[in-house]
Formats: sequence, C-alpha cells, structure tokens
Amino acid sequence: MTKIGQLTVGTLLERFTGARGRPSSESAVAGLEPLTERLSRHKVTRVALAFLDANAGLHLKDLLFDATTDDRRVVIDGQTVWNFGSDSFLGFDRDPRVYRAITEALPEWGAHNGASRAFSSPVLVDEAESKLAAWLGVPDTFIFPSVTLANVGLLPAITQPGDLLVVDRESHDSVHQGARLAAAAGAKVVELSSPDPKQLERVVADAGRHQGLVLAIDGVYSMSGRTPPLVELDATVRRLGGIMYVDDAHGTGVVGPRGRGAAAAALGTLDNVLMVGSLSKAFSCLGGFVTCTPELKTILKIRSSTFIFGGPVPPPYLAAISAVCDIFMSPEYDTLLAGLHERIQRFTDGLDALGIEYHGGGSAIVSLCVGDLEKTFEAGRQLFDLGYYAQSATYPAVPIHGGLLRVQINANHPMQAIDGLLDAVATVWRERRLPVRRRPAPVS
Ligand SMILES: Cc1ncc(COP(=O)(O)O)c(C=O)c1O
Repeated sequence: MTKIGQLTVGTLLERFTGARGRPSSESAVAGLEPLTERLSRHKVTRVALAFLDANAGLHLKDLLFDATTDDRRVVIDGQTVWNFGSDSFLGFDRDPRVYRAITEALPEWGAHNGASRAFSSPVLVDEAESKLAAWLGVPDTFIFPSVTLANVGLLPAITQPGDLLVVDRESHDSVHQGARLAAAAGAKVVELSSPDPKQLERVVADAGRHQGLVLAIDGVYSMSGRTPPLVELDATVRRLGGIMYVDDAHGTGVVGPRGRGAAAAALGTLDNVLMVGSLSKAFSCLGGFVTCTPELKTILKIRSSTFIFGGPVPPPYLAAISAVCDIFMSPEYDTLLAGLHERIQRFTDGLDALGIEYHGGGSAIVSLCVGDLEKTFEAGRQLFDLGYYAQSATYPAVPIHGGLLRVQINANHPMQAIDGLLDAVATVWRERRLPVRRRPAPVS
C-alpha cells in the first residue's frame, strides 16, 4: 500500500470511512477492493486524502446536520450554529406554502412518475414551465432535474461541428463539463481566462472561421459572488453574431427586478441570451431550467441527451415550482426580496466598517477574502466555534492563494444572527491578524 508520510493510503481511507461509523463489511465488498485500491493510488486521491487528514477538524467538509430550524440554525456534533452556508436564499425551504404545494400534489400525482420526459410527464411540468416563462417575460422555458444536467445536456445541444463555444474560465464546473461534451461532438471550444470583452474578441478572431458562436458564462460566480461585465460582453457577442449562455443559478430569484436574475437585470432583455436558472437555490424546490422559444424547445428536446435519457423533476416538486412562481409574481415578493437585500446590505456595511475585504454582495453571496488555504480553514473553524458556519472555499474551487469564507445570506436569518456573525468575523480577523483593507471606520 502506498505511503503518505507515516501513514498508508489504506489507513487514511479507513480513518475517513470509520469516522462516519460505517466501515464496510469485508465479505460484502471483496470484489470492490481492487477498484478501491487502484483508485486510492491515484495522485489526486492520495493528495486529497493526505490533505483532508492534515486538516482534520478544520476543513468542515462533508458535514452532517443532526437538526435544523426555521431560522437557519443547525446542530452539528452537538453544537448549534447559525447556518450561513445555504443557497435557499429566500427561506422557501421553510415556507408553509411550499410544504402545502408538495403535500397536496403527493396523493394526486405520487412521489415520482418514473419515466423520462421524452416518454411522458404529468401536466404539472407544462404548468411550471409556463409560469416560469410568465415570471421572466420570455416565450417559454424548459425544465431539467438540475442545473448540472441542464448544462451537460444543453451545451452539446446548442452547438455543432463548425461552431465556436467560448467558455469563461470562472464558470461553474458543470458548464465546463457540458463544454467537454460539446467538444467531443465536434464544436470548437476555447477558454476565456477572464471575462474581458477585448479578450473575447481576440479569442474569437484567433479561433478562425466558425458558424455559430456561443459565450458560456455564469451570471453570478458561485464562489466569489461577483458578476461579470454582462453588458459589455453582450455587446461584443452581438457584434460578433453570437449569443450568450448564462448560468444564472445564483441570480435566479435574488438579483434584479422581480428576481429575474443577473442577465435580465444587466441587459433588460433575454432576447439574445439562453438563461439557465436554478430551481433548487432561491426556489428551494428541485431542478434547473433554460429560457427559450417553443420552437427552440422542440429542437432542444431532440438534441439534449440528459432530457432524453434522464429522469424528471418529481411531480410534488413541479407543483412547488409553480407555487414559488406565484409568490414571485405577487406583491409580497417585493417585501421578501427587500428583506433579503436589507440583510445583505447590513452585512456588507458591517464588513466595510471593519475594513474587511470581500467579493460579491450584489447577490446573496458575500465572500470574505482570507488568502492561504490553512488560514482559510482556521478562520472557518474559529467562526464555527463562535457559533457561525460559513463555507471555506479553497483551491481548486478558487485560485491557490485566494481562499474565501463564503457567506450566504438568507431572508430568514434574523438580524441578530447577521450582527452576531459580524462580531464573530471581527474577532477572527483581529485574533488571526487577517488582512484588512483600511482603518476601520470610527464607531459613532
Ligand atoms: C453557477 C452554478 N451552476 C450550476 C450549479 C449546480 O446546480 P445543481 O445543484 O442544480 O446541479 C451550481 C451549484 O451550486 C452553481 O453554483
């Protein structure tokens, strides 16, 4: 067995597996041992295991909650902390109307309809797609069981041999996975190292002759919470005769008028954009969708393998998606969104007063800049011990020295939790001498 420091890979594996209390019974898995052994010898696995071991107790990954509350507290290993690591930005995961939609649809439609949508679907999917279209002011939408499956199914579906697909490097992993499949199917795929319109022009010129052109990019970067310059990129793409494919998973329901997302907010229209939205984050339901026209939807259904060969969003969740769309289109939504943005503002104002460097804040993601990987883990752990859980984002999700504490603000966080988080952040930054931007503003 390969050795890492004083420990074999096998010992490390046992430590992690055993920590979950379910070591495998020998006879049941004897045939899987060669596979486990072979995979555990791979460089990336070995480095990851050694890394997890060296940072055991610090990295706060693969956590299990023993309990959760309506106001976003969670119990982990007997400790109750405020959870600032949830994408359920509007708190709909704890909303009685969403519960009701799910429980009322259950007896009528069952827990799952058990067929690919290419064969059959409950009419609930049609209702949900129409409501999404009405909310966004677009001709139609097309639902997938997740954003990952949308990206992996759609990028090869909207490109073909002779086309050029430009992918922004900071895009979500699933955009890159979809692009790999598009490349395998014959499209030319090139990467944009930063979302710079000038670089886009250069990259397109260097790529030479092409027919269709697509720029795939996130509306809100999932780690940093920042938004790329969509207006300038859109102008360049239009001039070059292409379209933008915007994964707006973190903008959906949160950014811009009526929460229509970062692309709609920046551009005012989705007429030259395929916007992919999440139904799992601010919606707190399940799935992803893309904006389209009815004609394009017909074509995408024929060309998208994750639609044809994959399963559907279960009926109760389709009913919940429609219920959330109703809330988005009601006057109440303005109050809800204002409440979320008031909390985001309170947090970013507090960070500004402390002089702490952060990214984002235009959406519900506010990522505090820490730097080194170890420092990021240590800061996250201390914050946790003070009663606040935020995700530590480290390499390879962010650049090697660009470690972040990723805070997700939710509409159901009490203000006192936001204030408490700011106090805890101030303590962590002071005690660990983490970088600050300027002298803190004087307390009035
Ligand atoms: C930008 C972006 N796209 C896609 C996804 C994946 O979404 P899903 O969980 O629906 O597959 C995420 C998840 O966080 C994301 O941030």
